[in-house]
Amino acid sequence: MSTHAAAMPIASDDRLSRQESTSTTAPLLELQDVHAGYDRAVILEGVSFTLAQGSSLALLGRNGVGKSTLIGTLMGATRLHRGSIHFEGKPLHTVPAHRRAAAGLGWVAQERWIFPSLSVRENLTVAARKGLWTLARIFELFPRIEERQHNLGNQLSGGEQQMLAIARALMLQPRLLLLDEPLEGLAPVIVEQLTHAIQAMASSGELSLILVEQHAQQALAMTRQALVMDRGRVVYDGDSAGLLADTARLERLIGLG
Ligand SMILES: Nc1ncnc2c1ncn2[C@@H]1O[C@H](COP(=O)(O)OP(=O)(O)O)[C@@H](O)[C@H]1O
Ligand SMILES: [Mg+2]
Repeated sequence: MSTHAAAMPIASDDRLSRQESTSTTAPLLELQDVHAGYDRAVILEGVSFTLAQGSSLALLGRNGVGKSTLIGTLMGATRLHRGSIHFEGKPLHTVPAHRRAAAGLGWVAQERWIFPSLSVRENLTVAARKGLWTLARIFELFPRIEERQHNLGNQLSGGEQQMLAIARALMLQPRLLLLDEPLEGLAPVIVEQLTHAIQAMASSGELSLILVEQHAQQALAMTRQALVMDRGRVVYDGDSAGLLADTARLERLIGLG
């Protein structure tokens, strides 16, 4: 089946007229009909949503539905087949992957990339940029990272590595932070500490965030907006509180295990 209009790339003047007719403040992030994947495999099949300035979004869905692919697409790490991505009102999809951090995106990948042979402190300072997030503020947010600052990256526990990965991303002064399953596989005490830190970041008003999580209820409690995906498509786009209150719907969309 061919739908002619949907196959057309989004024209820039189309976007201008949309902005004029909707609101005066541009959303922080806006995706329109994003089709993306790896090489010729299309994983995302028409993803559209907006993230408001200063907001936080829980990105939910079962394993393999395309959550990490969506995050990777924001960072330019996948192949965009169709659609557009705008960040702070400007096209992001044309920005090369290696420039997206400088454009204001912070990425904490599911794999928790850190430098194993550098000290914790060096991990934080090696690529730091000047801004609101200083070493002092990072240590305030993650006291364990301060305690471990002279250890090597590979001497940290899984939870400490996750804290360091988030801290590293913050040192690049992102305006939008992308956290891909930050709580996965961590001990309850670490989950609790990370949850507090993420909540503090989300409520600081200094950055917006997208939180990918398997723990749906926890993620919904920590965010304002929610997006649920299924097989590369958006099946819920609304507020987190509404979805958290509707247990039956949440169960139907993702299952609560
Ligand atoms: N690097 C890759 N190359 C090819 N296919 C991939 C790659 N990464 C993920 N996929 C496929 O894309 C689909 C979505 O994966 P992913 O975005 O990782 O899902 P989620 O994060 O929701 O668990 C899966 O079918 C997965 O096999
Ligand atoms: Mg994933």
